[in-house]
Amino acid sequence: MKRDIDNEARIADLLARMTLDEKVGQLVQVSSDWRATGPVSFKGRLRDDLIEGRIGSMLNVLGTRYTRAYQELALQSRLGIPLLFGMDVIHGYLTTFPIPLGEAASFDLQAIERSARIAATEAAAAGIHWTFAPMVDVGRDPRWGRVMEGAGEDTFLGARIAAARVRGFQGRLGDTDAVLATAKHFAGYGWATGGRDYNTVDMSERMLREAVLPPFKAAVEAGVATFMNAFNDLNGVPATGSALLQRRILKGEWGFQGLMVSDWGSIGEMQPHGHAADQRDAARKAIEAGCDMDMESHAYTAHLAALVREGVVAESVVDDAVRRVLRCKFALGLFDDPFRFCDDEREHRMLGRAEHRRAARDIAARSIVLLKNEGGVLPIRLGAPAAESKGGQHQAGQHQGGQHQAGRVPTIALIGPLATAQMEHHGAWSVTLPEFDYAPFITSHLQGLRERAGQAARVLCAPGCDLEGERRDGFAEAVALAEQADVVIVSVGESAAMSGEAKSRARLGLPGVQEELIRALHATGKPLVVVVNAGRPLVLEWVAEQVPAIVYAWWLGSEAGHALADVLFGDVNPAARLPMTFVRDEGQIPLHYNHPNTGRPWRADADTAYIGGYIDMTPTPRWAFGHGLSYTCFEYGTPTFEVSGHQAATGGVPRLRAGETGVLRLTLRNTGARDGDEVVQLYLRDRVASLVRPVKELKGWQRVHLAAGESREVSFAIERDLLGFWNDRGQWRVEPGEFELMIGASSADIRQRLVFEWVE
Ligand code: NOJ
Repeated sequence: MKRDIDNEARIADLLARMTLDEKVGQLVQVSSDWRATGPVSFKGRLRDDLIEGRIGSMLNVLGTRYTRAYQELALQSRLGIPLLFGMDVIHGYLTTFPIPLGEAASFDLQAIERSARIAATEAAAAGIHWTFAPMVDVGRDPRWGRVMEGAGEDTFLGARIAAARVRGFQGRLGDTDAVLATAKHFAGYGWATGGRDYNTVDMSERMLREAVLPPFKAAVEAGVATFMNAFNDLNGVPATGSALLQRRILKGEWGFQGLMVSDWGSIGEMQPHGHAADQRDAARKAIEAGCDMDMESHAYTAHLAALVREGVVAESVVDDAVRRVLRCKFALGLFDDPFRFCDDEREHRMLGRAEHRRAARDIAARSIVLLKNEGGVLPIRLGAPAAESKGGQHQAGQHQGGQHQAGRVPTIALIGPLATAQMEHHGAWSVTLPEFDYAPFITSHLQGLRERAGQAARVLCAPGCDLEGERRDGFAEAVALAEQADVVIVSVGESAAMSGEAKSRARLGLPGVQEELIRALHATGKPLVVVVNAGRPLVLEWVAEQVPAIVYAWWLGSEAGHALADVLFGDVNPAARLPMTFVRDEGQIPLHYNHPNTGRPWRADADTAYIGGYIDMTPTPRWAFGHGLSYTCFEYGTPTFEVSGHQAATGGVPRLRAGETGVLRLTLRNTGARDGDEVVQLYLRDRVASLVRPVKELKGWQRVHLAAGESREVSFAIERDLLGFWNDRGQWRVEPGEFELMIGASSADIRQRLVFEWVE
């Protein structure tokens, strides 16, 4: 967020007229008490506090009717400073999109930006000024429930997605369809020990700088207006009280001019952390460390003015925090019209529009990962002409899955506890409007499949079992339906409530008896497709080994059923890729593709046991970062490397220097019979460095659409920025020497390699 000169003058003028108590009031955020997202500790005096200017912001107020009512109270205060209304609009407001981890799988920045834009448009129409998103915490531990809110394990991917989401939410800040975005949780929250939420984080500064901070920095560069700190401690200091993070890095090194809000109650939680003696001490530590606004700790309300009056905290520290709050309010135009986000008619018109739903369907289909497709079970063929795909390349009857015989209406059995689910697809961290009927709004898998199949197939359906629990009495009916079917689709997974905040899991298998149900269906010998819905990578070993077709559907939002049908029937050719490694067993965690080099790297064909691995299982992932299949296939041509316009001499290792750009080019060809997208991934390895470097790191990707048989040149620019690391003298540095570029379809499926040398 930039400083606007006119606004700064108005802020200075207003600040000069504020009493100390009014200043402190601006630094206080409270929840409306009917939709809390944390333990509510304060009720009763809300009305008086608003009228007396003791509150600067509220969260969890749903709808213009209520934001208007609260705003009217705030405007009765002496200076009439409008409130800011915040809300966790994480993946849509009424129209929901895939959970952020799912959307990250699209590797499609335009789609991601569009979904944030629509979420902002709807939220702003409903009176919201400020979303507590995007969460940009890199997450490498699937036990941690909050991986569903982020962009996965990779920092480079996460940084680009962070920027896209900020651009999407904030649009043109000041327009009434734009909301303030929040980069959260600053910082290190994704590294919580053992994947246990709210836990300790202990990491080197190098890890912090290289792996954790870049998405936050990318958010600042994209103009993000606000930050939220975090529940965890980082190397012994609670993030909320960390001057290193908030004052030195964010507001100092990065020059951030926006607002830092605490996480819910995190100022007060510095007491149980053992970092603050009492609320007063916590208030002092938080404000001095650069935490501008107190969300629901009430520590600033109770102590901040006294701390200033007693000379413990300088008033200039409070002034700086207030300026940041006012900057947000001015940027939104609230001083010119405090009700500009309170238009009932716009709210009514904007929520759940048909064009938002169309975008949600498109983005959902782009986020579905085809993990396995042995024997071409997918796409499901219905027989000509109904089965013709939109691209027209579908070849009826050529499948090996044995799904139907000519002249007969095929039967699809849709089984599983999530076959008819609706609200589950809304996913964790979704806004649930109390008066809204979601049933007609969210498409179930059954609805999506039946609509698509029309008269061309019968779709039979049975749950088989519950999501959790031991009941197996639905197995017989499920197996009987499967016996009648040409293809069996099983919709399984977690419940939506098993991921998100405070939803860490130690065991990541399918809950309850779902795997047993799949085994029973598998025993029928019918072509089997397992569709997994979850907020995190699950451990699916038996399924991965035995089931021919596996589709990962995350939580896809309002259009889940339609999007799934689009992919299962081949109207959309899947292209999404895993943004997190899938482990074979929880015992492998943490496992991520960009681990550092070791002295004894594991190799399947090693002739010694003295290498890094396990004695009881392979250390490799089940599915690697970047993995995802298509209904077509692609060929990667030999790459070339050009330095700022000069073709590198053949034979030698090309050389690159500061100020030059290397361009890697290769030809990608769709060698299959269907149109499709390929996510071409570029990885880099620094071959020899003063510090041990990762085996590979993502440094670029492109999602390329190619018609069947089509070829296209794909290029990547290689510049200095991509090559550096945080060295042991506390600086970003590129060391001279050789770098290896790897181009592939996943981090484990490298198709081409090329080496260049960085010279100084
Ligand atoms: C706590 C969560 O950690 C944070 O992400 C969220 O924005 C706040 N609660 C407000 O709901």
